[in-house]
Amino acid sequence: MKEKRAQFSSRFAVIATTVGSAVGLGNIWAFPYKCGVNGGAAFLLIYIACVLLIGIPVICAEFSIGRGTHKNVRGALRQLHSSRFVHSFSFIGLLASILILSFYSVVAGWTLEYLIEAISGQMTATPAADFSNHFSGFASSPYKSVAWTLIFLLCNYFIMRRGVKRGIERMSNILMPILFVILIIFCVHSFFLPEVGRGLKFLFHPDFSKITPSVVLGAMGQAFFSLSLGLSCLLIYASYFSDKENLIGSASLIAVLDTVVAVLAGVIIFPAVFSYGANVAEGPKLVYEVFPAIFASMSMGWLWAVLFFLLLFFAAITSTISMSEITIAFMTEEWGLSRKRASQVNTLVAMALGSLCALSFGVLRDFTIFGMTIFDLFEYISSNILLPLGGIVFALLAGWVIDRRFIRDQLTNFGSVNRRLYPVISFLMRFVAPVAILLIFLYGLKLLHF
Ligand code: PFF
Repeated sequence: MKEKRAQFSSRFAVIATTVGSAVGLGNIWAFPYKCGVNGGAAFLLIYIACVLLIGIPVICAEFSIGRGTHKNVRGALRQLHSSRFVHSFSFIGLLASILILSFYSVVAGWTLEYLIEAISGQMTATPAADFSNHFSGFASSPYKSVAWTLIFLLCNYFIMRRGVKRGIERMSNILMPILFVILIIFCVHSFFLPEVGRGLKFLFHPDFSKITPSVVLGAMGQAFFSLSLGLSCLLIYASYFSDKENLIGSASLIAVLDTVVAVLAGVIIFPAVFSYGANVAEGPKLVYEVFPAIFASMSMGWLWAVLFFLLLFFAAITSTISMSEITIAFMTEEWGLSRKRASQVNTLVAMALGSLCALSFGVLRDFTIFGMTIFDLFEYISSNILLPLGGIVFALLAGWVIDRRFIRDQLTNFGSVNRRLYPVISFLMRFVAPVAILLIFLYGLKLLHF
């Protein structure tokens, strides 16, 4: 039986759920480490430019297609265009969402392990020098990492199964404000650290000599992943928006809030990194290796650790809920499966693939395809190929292929809002965004060298 299509019940819910999707491990784990590796403030500056010039117009493209049709990605494309070739682009998002869910759940699973270690006091009892070994030991243990991945996916399943209104909306309404409160507490704490000045200078005082083509393109890629762009995640959320929602306004607010969280994460992390003598260019291990060491040397460290990993877990689950919605809406609306059954299929596939990703830090470490472990391969295919491809497709579809009036009516609510902003967004969507994304794409495939 076809289930009635849900709608978010308030503007607050729209913002909370969409920001919940955008804000995740990408902001709190990936942004600070990438900013650290790429020279700090210069990276931040370009990142912000990318959010404004690519992020907002592509969000608008996904929003207008989703809200205008109130359908899943395939249904939406079918309604808007007769060509099967155009419909086939829906598979980019479906494939990307399942690949991202699989490897993302592994990193989210580490968060759960660290949360339990923090609660039990084990984390703050570990000598700071041992955290690197501790992380490697844990990540490579054959069962622990897999077990946490599966547990995380089960949490995701129980929320998903409840549906848009009861599961996603309620969860985001509660979790997103808590997330902001915890972040603010951490920021305040950072201001009392001895090296707060150095940390903030690193984040906000740009050294323009650090800007290289690879920093520019790295910042664009990060903006893409962080905003959940290109895989129809925002399209499907917009399909639950009401017709009164101001799409350009919401897109801008979401882009700003997502960026604020990334910057807050930087404000929290860099003063701490300098104060505790950690290496700012530590790389992807920054959160999972350096933070516990920092907590161990803080007074009330266990409490900060619990808050931090709780925050990371919340941020991760509101993101995985949104990626799961892409496949679940597809299976319920295109295949007629019940929401419960679709959630089960989604979870089982992610469990199988996620276990392989988790094992690639241990027993499958030497199993490589194109020189990459399964985890790295999934990350590479989704971030470097599928998201940029999807982003170009949405920008081109909304900018050039779909009836111009349809997009304009959506972005202006039939001429009642944003009449002056619309031409700017339209220009960015049609020209600026596709060209910029193309550069990321070619760079990701290593077809473009500077
Ligand atoms: N934007 C999320 C983050 O920053 O962690 C990651 C993400 C969520 C990517 C949802 C893709 C997606 F569909």
